[in-house]
Amino acid sequence: MEQQIKITTTSDSKLKDIDFDNIPLGKAFTDHMFICDYEDGAWQNPRIEPLEFIPTHPAAMALHYGQAIFEGMKATVGKDNTPLLFRPEENAKRFNHSAARMGMPSVPEELFVEAVKQIVGVEYGWIPPQEGSALYLRPFMYADEPFIGMRAATSYKFIVICSPAGPFFTKKIRLYAETKYIRAADGGTGEAKAAGNYAAAILPTEKAKAKGYDQVLWLDANEHKYIQEVGTMNIFFKVDGKFITPSTNGSILKGITRDSVITLLKDKGFEVVERPITIDEVIEFSKEGKLEEAFGTGTAVAIAMIEAIGYNEELITLPDTNPVSQDMKNTLDEIKAQKREDKHGWITPVSIKEKVK
Ligand SMILES: Cc1ncc(COP(=O)(O)O)c(C=O)c1O
Repeated sequence: MEQQIKITTTSDSKLKDIDFDNIPLGKAFTDHMFICDYEDGAWQNPRIEPLEFIPTHPAAMALHYGQAIFEGMKATVGKDNTPLLFRPEENAKRFNHSAARMGMPSVPEELFVEAVKQIVGVEYGWIPPQEGSALYLRPFMYADEPFIGMRAATSYKFIVICSPAGPFFTKKIRLYAETKYIRAADGGTGEAKAAGNYAAAILPTEKAKAKGYDQVLWLDANEHKYIQEVGTMNIFFKVDGKFITPSTNGSILKGITRDSVITLLKDKGFEVVERPITIDEVIEFSKEGKLEEAFGTGTAVAIAMIEAIGYNEELITLPDTNPVSQDMKNTLDEIKAQKREDKHGWITPVSIKEKVK
């Protein structure tokens, strides 16, 4: 059933100002946003409106206590220019998992998916057609109740904004295995896509970049030896013909790309083992010549091939060739462009909205 989402469109579209071959990453936004208010225990007034600033009380609880979560997903174009979403119901489920951990209200899955479909239906002209490019969608929720004191807020906003994006990380990446700072501890918020997790990662990421790396490779909080994930990606290692990826343990974000890649690798006949894996094991595999490929998986980048991992005084370097990583990247890109059969039913077509004033 379609949610009743009121749509008000602008007559002053900025679409003509964007050059899809040179998109300023993360800085370009489409003309509209979806917005919905949580008040009196219910989500109210779902609407699509021209994108604009949101008046915020200086005591809004998200600003002080950090009740804020988000999702990341992409819209692509398929056959006959149909806008497509990739597994949106999985983002809806993860959003609610994050909301529950942060003491925030859930958003009915149907409302989440419909919000995303309808904003894409309005903004379809902003989906860049170039291969590897997409319209990045950012659903998020934050506590906007003005209140000083530690308790769950009673009012929230659920918003979806859209930003056209070119291909991320087109080159191979270098990771820095962090031994001082941690991303997530047992019992913490690592499995939630909570804004605070990213705030805590900013300083270590800047330090890793200053050392010449692209992203941090997070290790566990207790012993600093078990590999968890990368800045905004999960990680896979190809060792002696098989794939190993850290098992999700409550501290790792359950990536939708991770889950899709496990399925695709198995489709290709590879064994995929989800288990705890230490950085020392990876060094050992590398020394024995068994480390064949390593890559990160995430919505922003799909697949990012890894060139090297720095850890204390060691530098683990990966072989130059990455046939399976490349195949996974192509497979995902082709499914998302409807150039390859969608065997697992991951693609959701979106109907284009007539622009209503
Ligand atoms: C910390 C973290 N891990 C993993 C991922 C990959 O998740 P997904 O494949 O659902 O984008 C992301 C990106 O959302 C992330 O921010």
